[in-house]
Amino acid sequence: MKRLEGKRALITGAARGIGLEFARAYLAEGAQVAICDINLEAAQAAAGGLGKGAVAVRLDVTDQSSIDRCVAEVEAGFGGIDILINNAALFTAAPIAEITRADYERIFAVNVSGALFMMQAVARGMIARGSGGRIINMASQAGRRGEPLVAVYCASKAAVISLTQSAGLNLIGHGINVNAIAPGVVDGEHWDGVDAFFAKYEGKAPGQKKREVGAAVPYGRMGTAADLTGMAIFLASDEADYIVAQTYNVDGGQWMS
Ligand SMILES: NC(=O)c1ccc[n+]([C@@H]2O[C@H](COP(=O)([O-])OP(=O)(O)OC[C@H]3O[C@@H](n4cnc5c(N)ncnc54)[C@H](O)[C@@H]3O)[C@@H](O)[C@H]2O)c1
Repeated sequence: MKRLEGKRALITGAARGIGLEFARAYLAEGAQVAICDINLEAAQAAAGGLGKGAVAVRLDVTDQSSIDRCVAEVEAGFGGIDILINNAALFTAAPIAEITRADYERIFAVNVSGALFMMQAVARGMIARGSGGRIINMASQAGRRGEPLVAVYCASKAAVISLTQSAGLNLIGHGINVNAIAPGVVDGEHWDGVDAFFAKYEGKAPGQKKREVGAAVPYGRMGTAADLTGMAIFLASDEADYIVAQTYNVDGGQWMS
């Protein structure tokens, strides 16, 4: 028995990386999936690669009219949305003395405002249809504590954890469960960018930081996107019906809370 049979999911930032792996896993469990990304070409290639049940829609989570258009298009195409995964995010790093206001605003516009106003737009439809739903926000171990070079990204992910708590408490009255996943270090294109920041600020050779963080994970290696799909399916499934406003660490043992 497929665990998400007949469910309709919208995943932001799903053209690559973790979001794309979630899309693949949801399709395998019987869901239809909208791959929504600022990079429409990549989203279309991803949806084409996944085949039947996957559609690509352009979405810029920093732009309210883009959010409204995307959500309306997915609702019209699928007849509703049962699951939202707020996965789109940007990473940045800099010492406090070098952080720029523009970079701070860019990161918060995607990671925080983007997640909040996507929750709002999708929840409105869920409330109007009256059949509840699931929202999963992508937090991070970075949201659990600060890091010397990662103030802005860490703060943005702490805000995602807080929004998950408030939205979870507010929306459960409508049968909408809001929860979050906090990954640790997950290999992929995103981490190649992170590695480049540490090469710059810590004087490491390319790839060195990546090797170090992988070796420091209690499990013994970096995570993969596939390591996260079990939690993403579970939180969207009927088995998670009594779980509200939580953030789950899926990080090979890096953080305990
Ligand atoms: N990779 C990791 O180590 C790691 C660790 C902890 C948490 N996370 C979180 O998991 C999620 C996915 O990470 P990933 O590694 O797959 O990232 P990624 O960088 O590979 O993918 C992010 C996607 O978001 C899209 N995107 C960027 N800006 C957007 C916008 N304004 N509107 C819509 N889409 C936009 C990008 O085009 C890209 O396809 C993120 O929330 C990230 O913070 C990742």
